[in-house]
Amino acid sequence: MAIERVGVVGCGLMGRGIAQVCARAGHATIVSEINDDLLATGMASIEKFLGKGVEKGKISEEEMQSTLGNLTGTTDLGSFAECDLVIEAATENREMKLEIFRNLDEICGPGAIFGSNTSSLNITELAVSTGRPDRVVGVHFFNPVPLMKLVEVVGTMLVDDSVVEEVKAFGQGLGKVVVVARDRTGFIVNRLLVPYLLDAIRVLDEGLAKMEDIDQAMKLGCGYPMGPFALLDLVGIDTTYYIANIMYEEFREHQFAPPPLLRRMVLAGRHGRKTGRGFYDYSK
Ligand SMILES: NC(=O)c1ccc[n+]([C@@H]2O[C@H](COP(=O)([O-])OP(=O)(O)OC[C@H]3O[C@@H](n4cnc5c(N)ncnc54)[C@H](O)[C@@H]3O)[C@@H](O)[C@H]2O)c1
Repeated sequence: MAIERVGVVGCGLMGRGIAQVCARAGHATIVSEINDDLLATGMASIEKFLGKGVEKGKISEEEMQSTLGNLTGTTDLGSFAECDLVIEAATENREMKLEIFRNLDEICGPGAIFGSNTSSLNITELAVSTGRPDRVVGVHFFNPVPLMKLVEVVGTMLVDDSVVEEVKAFGQGLGKVVVVARDRTGFIVNRLLVPYLLDAIRVLDEGLAKMEDIDQAMKLGCGYPMGPFALLDLVGIDTTYYIANIMYEEFREHQFAPPPLLRRMVLAGRHGRKTGRGFYDYSK
């Protein structure tokens, strides 16, 4: 079965990017949010991103219009009934995601494949919350989705291998490079990246160096495109905190424990670029 109609749950930072690349690749794409305001914000951001692409000459006006034409927004998960593939990109919260998967299982046809964009939750638990654990995989995109080439596809011990292959081909059809990983918390990238980001927060809190100098050092010393604090602000301080908690719960190792400063920043509402302030100030 070829994947044609795609559903995306959540139109936040990731969901809007995933919906955009699916629509751009020609899939009829439906994206959901919990209310009209959040949906409107997400859809407007897709339009703005495409508009900038037209301004810069990266895509044509026709491509922008056909992408937007392939895209529908909804606040009703019931509209996903006809989807061949649903990619869940809702908030990194176990209970919320389990409820979404249980609902999708009732709404969608038995042949539909479910993917989760979760960064740290285990795919097996999401899979067994449905009546189709052989058709559930991790489909982990990177931020910003339209620009980042990588997708991690994650199979569990219950998955049908042909489903992994189908989703892999789907990701390649979006123009992405797909790597396959086992269902181990954090998969490849976050397993290695999250301890590094948390360590950066710890050394900042210890007074090792100024935040700007740490960012500069990791950029110029390691050839990274951005330093850890700029990256934390891009990923989202709240999302990083959720991920760290989940990884710590899984591994019980200090390297995954969320540092006190991270928790304080979440409580203070400094969630990164998306709220105008994280480690850096984006209000201007
Ligand atoms: N931020 C990143 O860099 C990044 C990278 C890769 C993966 N992820 C993962 O992607 C997922 C989303 O992260 P994000 O950064 O986009 O978070 P976000 O907070 O920007 O967006 C999440 C959105 O999901 C919506 N939502 C929650 N419950 C919903 C429901 N039942 N139906 C529809 N929408 C719902 C929220 O209203 C919110 O707008 C998380 O699992 C996260 O771990 C994030």
